[in-house]
Amino acid sequence: MTLRVVQWATGGVGKAAIEMILKHPELELVGCWVHSPDKDGRDVGEIIGTGPVGVTATSSVEEILALEADAVIYAPAFSRTREIAALLRSGKNVITPLNWFYPMPEDAARVRDACLEGGTTLHGTGVDPGGATDLHPLMFAALSSAVTFVRGEEFSDLRDYNTPEVLHDVMGFGHSPEYVRDSPLLERIGHGYTQSVRMCLDALGFADAEIRPTLDLAVATAPIDCPFGTIEPGQVAGERLHWDAVIDGEVVVRVGATWLMGEENLDPAWTLGPGGQRFEVEVQGDPPAFVTIHGWHAKTIEEGLVRNPGVVVASAHCVNSVPYVCAAEPGIKTYLDLPLITGRAHPDLARKHP
Ligand SMILES: NC(=O)c1ccc[n+]([C@@H]2O[C@H](COP(=O)([O-])OP(=O)(O)OC[C@H]3O[C@@H](n4cnc5c(N)ncnc54)[C@H](OP(=O)(O)O)[C@@H]3O)[C@@H](O)[C@H]2O)c1
Repeated sequence: MTLRVVQWATGGVGKAAIEMILKHPELELVGCWVHSPDKDGRDVGEIIGTGPVGVTATSSVEEILALEADAVIYAPAFSRTREIAALLRSGKNVITPLNWFYPMPEDAARVRDACLEGGTTLHGTGVDPGGATDLHPLMFAALSSAVTFVRGEEFSDLRDYNTPEVLHDVMGFGHSPEYVRDSPLLERIGHGYTQSVRMCLDALGFADAEIRPTLDLAVATAPIDCPFGTIEPGQVAGERLHWDAVIDGEVVVRVGATWLMGEENLDPAWTLGPGGQRFEVEVQGDPPAFVTIHGWHAKTIEEGLVRNPGVVVASAHCVNSVPYVCAAEPGIKTYLDLPLITGRAHPDLARKHP
């Protein structure tokens, strides 16, 4: 049976998700919500830069709600719980990289009725958070005993992350250090990361821990070009963010990211180290594990600005979740509830069904 999927928003995540839906043997693209008026009414293929795919994009929420579909991949710049609840109530399962990785009970309560009314499931997934910061440490902890520490961390040069609004308005690049320190940045970005920490604590059975966020900043020492323009000397051009879960003074879970706008013009003179751009997963236990993931960063800034692998992996995780989320019982389902989610063979290599 083919599952009918709607793509909600066509930024970096949305465009790659559409490509992947079209290649997935169990999925069919049946609709697409777009934000910009100039995308409204266009064939989705035009928006993603391929030939026509026979699906017309719409900026009408009502049209999407009225559509018969099994799932929506919800990937706009900003999450609106009332939109997600409406989609769930309309009978569509929702998969999103924006939130809902492992929500607090009071947050979960805000959409539980919508899931029950629509008989639908909500799943938060992605890569960072929603993959490398929770699922992967937990997967590798399964190969260890008496675990004392897990870690999931990203190390990236963000000059190729083509989301000007997110970089400037949400992540705080290009502002003064004082502005960023006084802003709700840690709280806003931490909303997802603390869900990863809590998922690790709960799944591994750690005792009650205090979650401590830390933010270190580097400023530009010379003008740095980035997707939203130029970062001037003295403005924020590097961030190290961590969320540590601490028990009796010992860190037992650490998630976070080092995000730099290049390595040349920073004070302090931070670098990504000899490992370069990467994701790391660490487990301390018997035996320990230390995993470095390459391939989720573009080879050049130009390539990343067009199609960023770090974004594309989040799209893949969303798309590949669809069959599992559609088969799940109604409610919010996390990695701890769903079976093993995996990708599918390339169409040229896939088993042919008679
Ligand atoms: N968890 C993870 O690992 C992970 C990974 C990647 C991204 N994300 C999150 O996923 C979201 C999408 O990421 P992205 O890389 O696709 O971002 P993006 O390239 O900036 O795309 C943002 C999308 O949101 C639309 N949009 C802009 N302003 C909007 C508004 N006010 N209301 C509704 N939609 C609006 C844009 O529409 P137009 O194109 O029509 O302007 C575009 O389709 C972001 O929130 C990002 O933080 C999470």
